[in-house]
Amino acid sequence: MNLILLGPPGAGKGTQAKRLEEQFGIAQISTGDMLRAEVKSGSEIGLQAKAIMERGELVPDGVITAMLAARVSRPDCAKGFILDGFPRTVPQAEALDRMLAEKGLRLDHVIELKVDDAALVERIAGRFTCAKCGAGYHDTFKPTAKPGVCDSCGSTEFTRRADDRAETVAARLEAYHRQTAPLLPYYAAQGKLSGVDGMASMDAVARQIGAILTGKG
Ligand code: AP5
Repeated sequence: MNLILLGPPGAGKGTQAKRLEEQFGIAQISTGDMLRAEVKSGSEIGLQAKAIMERGELVPDGVITAMLAARVSRPDCAKGFILDGFPRTVPQAEALDRMLAEKGLRLDHVIELKVDDAALVERIAGRFTCAKCGAGYHDTFKPTAKPGVCDSCGSTEFTRRADDRAETVAARLEAYHRQTAPLLPYYAAQGKLSGVDGMASMDAVARQIGAILTGKG
């Protein structure tokens, strides 16, 4: 099963992709995570992407599609994948269609997480991640069970993303509405688009997505 989670920054794409990865044994592919790893390693792509990401703009399509093509060829994608943060422009979506056709693969579902802009700002401002294992949390919506200690690995070190500052979030939202929202009619025309209420709780969103994937949505 190959699917896309589509939605603005902070909509819950990463949160739901991780759950789907565990539930269905298919790979989560987050282009944002891949770019952050490139930045951290100081690679050529990372050097190119760092300033763009900190401004809240999109990294050039050619860089992203080359990175994605290499990623979907890896063995952990054999059973399928969940694209989280890709595609983000119509040229990226067209490149994905060509890539899948060449590999004899098809896209099964495109799921839009619908969330109001005001709620997104609150979600992003409260987000933090374990520095050791990468588990994701939120100050209000998903705190650690024991304050300051990661539930998954026990680490006491956490990080917040460089692009989660208020002014960058505004630019990321603008980029979403201008460059990524046109993908909604693109996938609706292919008959692949379904929407879920992303304002609901994490469990309720997961149930809505599960219903779509099992044909009960
Ligand atoms: P990327 O890393 O993809 O970021 P994003 O799309 O802005 O999305 P986020 O990761 O911020 O949010 P999310 O939807 O995954 O939400 P999450 O689950 O964490 O991209 C970063 C940058 O990289 C881009 O700006 C761009 O520069 C570049 N880039 C990446 N891909 C690119 C591409 N294809 N082309 C060009 N450039 C690209 O949830 C957010 C918070 O809310 C969490 O704390 C979570 O716990 C909480 N939460 C989640 N669900 C709920 C819920 N239902 N109720 C309450 N709280 C919730």
